[in-house]
Amino acid sequence: MVFMVLSTIYVLVFPTLAGSMTGYISVMKAFVKDRSGSIIPFENFNYVAYIIHDGQRVNLTADYIIPYADTANAKSKQDPMASSPSPDCPDPGDKICSLKNAASHYVSNYGFYGLDDVNTTWEIDGVYLEPPALNISAFYLTYYTPPSNNLSDNRLFGNGWVDPRTGQRPFNDSARLTWTANGQLFSIDDIKANGACQPMMNAYEWGFSFVQAILNAIIMTAWTIGLWLLWLAAQYKLPLQREQEVAKGWRAVSYLAETMRRQFDEAGINPQSLREKPLKQEINKYLNGGDISFIAESPEKSQLSLGHGLLLWFKQNKWWCLVFFLLLLGTGLSQRPVLYPLFATVYGMLMAMALVDGVASRILVILPFMIVSLFGLLFALLYVT
Ligand SMILES: *[C@@H]1O[C@H](CO)[C@@H](O)[C@H](O)[C@H]1NC(C)=O
Ligand SMILES: *[C@@H]1O[C@H](CO)[C@@H](O)[C@H](O)[C@H]1NC(C)=O
Ligand SMILES: *[C@@H]1O[C@H](CO)[C@@H](O)[C@H](O)[C@H]1NC(C)=O
Ligand SMILES: *[C@@H]1O[C@H](CO)[C@@H](O)[C@H](O)[C@H]1NC(C)=O
Ligand SMILES: *[C@@H]1O[C@H](CO)[C@@H](O)[C@H](O)[C@H]1NC(C)=O
Repeated sequence: MVFMVLSTIYVLVFPTLAGSMTGYISVMKAFVKDRSGSIIPFENFNYVAYIIHDGQRVNLTADYIIPYADTANAKSKQDPMASSPSPDCPDPGDKICSLKNAASHYVSNYGFYGLDDVNTTWEIDGVYLEPPALNISAFYLTYYTPPSNNLSDNRLFGNGWVDPRTGQRPFNDSARLTWTANGQLFSIDDIKANGACQPMMNAYEWGFSFVQAILNAIIMTAWTIGLWLLWLAAQYKLPLQREQEVAKGWRAVSYLAETMRRQFDEAGINPQSLREKPLKQEINKYLNGGDISFIAESPEKSQLSLGHGLLLWFKQNKWWCLVFFLLLLGTGLSQRPVLYPLFATVYGMLMAMALVDGVASRILVILPFMIVSLFGLLFALLYVT
């Protein structure tokens, strides 16, 4: 009874539960305020690789900032929130990429800060430079092993460079990682101080609560099992006891005759040996005037509890249950995602066992699930492995 009330409430609130699982949420984006007060999306920020302080000597501007990647180039763009910038150049034709490599080769030959008093060449356009060397500096450069002039080698030189004046490695400290945007430099502290996540104006995305979905699935499973147990109890406890239908017509007549025969036998009356009138008297005397009750086929069955009913059900369906559990355990324990589409068949078996009796009708119920499983397996084999 409690279950029936709870079940009714569940059915009533189900649309609310399902509806509150999903909904629109506003899109959040990270923004950073720059020195002029304008707000820049953080995705437009870039890691700084090198700065050429006397850039005008090679047809660039003074204090020219060379970033790790070009934010305008979708192919080589880098996530500014990655733990460490990548020196890779996915698009070799990228202008920033060639600048970055030119600077890397230059400092690996002549060092940083323009300390070498030698004639040098800037690799882009082959610009020849009188001493001193270009004054190039950096903040943090990802780890790099041997110096190399290999042009197709995109690793950036500088992490292990030792400043001859101090004996320190100035570019090996990842805490000095610096970003650039709008021609300005931002340290990690600047980003922390001026960055914030803000909802975008009039931009919404579809939100989905997984916790609620899983909770709903659990409640639904409990509800389904509860309903099935209720059905099972009804099957075994009510007088009809798994009879296919209420007896009427010929079946009713045969039941009636059978029951009368049994009651005559129990009372020791032989109706064929008596005439109508004495028979009526006997019936009045010994059989309460002849009231007939529907006697269950096996009397012990009518006292069946739900537990006994369950046991009986499991006994009748032992092979189905065995195959079901083997398939369920086999698929679950294999831990091979490729096999997971088989769960559809397992679910189909569960449905078939609960819904119908008889091998043919059960196979009919399972068939669509098997087809789903087959397509799932085919898809998994083709695309997942
Ligand atoms: C300097 O750069 C500009 C544009 O970046 C280019 O048009 C010009 O040809 C370059 N000059 C030399 C000497 O490379
Ligand atoms: C640089 O090259 C010039 C000739 O182009 C030469 O006179 C000068 O000695 C060179 N300087 C150094 C430091 O090699
Ligand atoms: C290189 O540039 C930096 C920044 O402009 C400056 O502080 C430094 O003195 C320059 N070094 C040389 C050797 O010119
Ligand atoms: C240059 O570097 C690339 C990538 O690291 C490597 O495959 C290639 O063999 C190198 N070439 C030379 C000449 O060292
Ligand atoms: C950077 O190099 C210095 C030596 O100049 C060393 O003491 C320090 O541990 C290095 N830091 C990192 C993060 O490798």
